[in-house]
Amino acid sequence: MKRPYIETVGCQMNMLDSEMVVASLRKEGYQLVAEPLQADVVLFNTCSVRQHAEDKIYSALGKLRRHKQKYPEKVIGVLGCMAQNHQKLVFERAPYVDLVVGPGQLQRVPELIAKVQSGAGPQEALSLGRKDGSAEEIKRSHESFDPLRDPEMRPTPSQAYLRIQIGCDKFCTYCIVPSVRGPEQGRPPAQIVAEARTLADQGCREITLVGQTVNSYRYREGDRVTRLADLLAMLHEIEGLRRLKFVTNYPKDMTDDLLEAMRELPKVSRYLHVPAQSGSNRMLERMKRGYTVEDYREMMARIRSALPGAAVSSDFIVGFCGETEEDFQQSVELVRECRFKNSFIFKYSERPGTKGASLYADDVPDEVKRRRNNELLAIQTEIGDEENQRFLGQIVEVLVEGPSKQAAKHAAADSPTLQLTGRTRDDRIVVFDGSRRQVGQFLDIAIYDCTPYTLIGEVVTQHAGSELLALQSG
Ligand code: 5AD
Ligand code: SF4
Repeated sequence: MKRPYIETVGCQMNMLDSEMVVASLRKEGYQLVAEPLQADVVLFNTCSVRQHAEDKIYSALGKLRRHKQKYPEKVIGVLGCMAQNHQKLVFERAPYVDLVVGPGQLQRVPELIAKVQSGAGPQEALSLGRKDGSAEEIKRSHESFDPLRDPEMRPTPSQAYLRIQIGCDKFCTYCIVPSVRGPEQGRPPAQIVAEARTLADQGCREITLVGQTVNSYRYREGDRVTRLADLLAMLHEIEGLRRLKFVTNYPKDMTDDLLEAMRELPKVSRYLHVPAQSGSNRMLERMKRGYTVEDYREMMARIRSALPGAAVSSDFIVGFCGETEEDFQQSVELVRECRFKNSFIFKYSERPGTKGASLYADDVPDEVKRRRNNELLAIQTEIGDEENQRFLGQIVEVLVEGPSKQAAKHAAADSPTLQLTGRTRDDRIVVFDGSRRQVGQFLDIAIYDCTPYTLIGEVVTQHAGSELLALQSG
């Protein structure tokens, strides 16, 4: 009875949480399986940012209902943000669920599974609400358990996520995160550096630092305050590490010292994900984002001047409460002007319990949200394509991540060449043919084609390189 299956949805934070849960289960002798029906323990690590993500989990749970009736000894667990958000409601909507565990309590998963298996009935482990205790008690109830790692759960063997911060204190009015992930807390720098060293020793070449607002990271020890720029400088020293990234950024905290650090430290990716959310001051104000569109533009100008050629990506919410066509057109303008590498665009989804839900009516009809989403996406896609076309004929350096999605599905394990994917220093995805042995290496790739999201090229051997040079000089 030691075969867990875990399904993860949502952000990088959730990927990391799942890695930790799996690592803690492996320590207890569990061996992961790839199919829920083969498993003794089925876990869902969930997301609450939009209702759609929650609906999908209930529907996945629904599909297991019969199976659980047939095999009542199987354990079904709901972990993460939706567990914290819905609490008892999960048991009400899916009474055959055995475990409900919030993101701040995941270290208890092995113990709770054992309790269920010993006949103790359904188990629940949740963190405190933001008003349900002293500041210290609330913080402690959300603490994460990071040092446990599991290499097989990583994006690829040469890449890992590393949490530097938990929680969020920004309280954007549409967002559920501050209430399910608790207060913002930076992890101690020494812990972060030690974990990064371990990862590098295990063969990781690229580390992505994660936090809800990573660039707000601060850690105070006595008089000394460590900020993200300092942390990057410390991590930069680690031998074996070749690339450092960090997500997600908060526009207001994009300080010059961080941009300076990015310019000075060659291992740091020249890539910034800085969600704008809207191009309308009226919407930004309602969202309580804490900046105006002019502030955002000023930040973009500083990024462009400190880091020429850097890639910037963004998130937008369309159809937020009271968004008019004019407000929306201001988001369109901002996308056109900023020339993001890519943007994630979301239809506003009202989240019960947020300020947005209690203050404003979700009054933009769904078909209008959908139309605005498609329109903004089409513009962004056009920009992505134009930006990528600038690379045609150029040679770019990539860090090879692994087989491309297609190759991972279709390529025979013993085939000598397969389609690989890697990223440039400014986070552009590049696909090309190569061999498995090149994973984790830096390669020069000559770009000959592109899509709005991908550059397509070939490894520069002497032959291809000289041909290209001949072309360029001709
Ligand atoms: N509705 C739609 N999108 C949301 N996001 C956060 N909360 C909501 C919501 N209630 C988006 C934001 C954020 C991204 C992770 O998800 O754009 O940056
Ligand atoms: Fe949510 Fe805003 Fe915090 Fe991001 S910064 S997690 S959008 S509250």
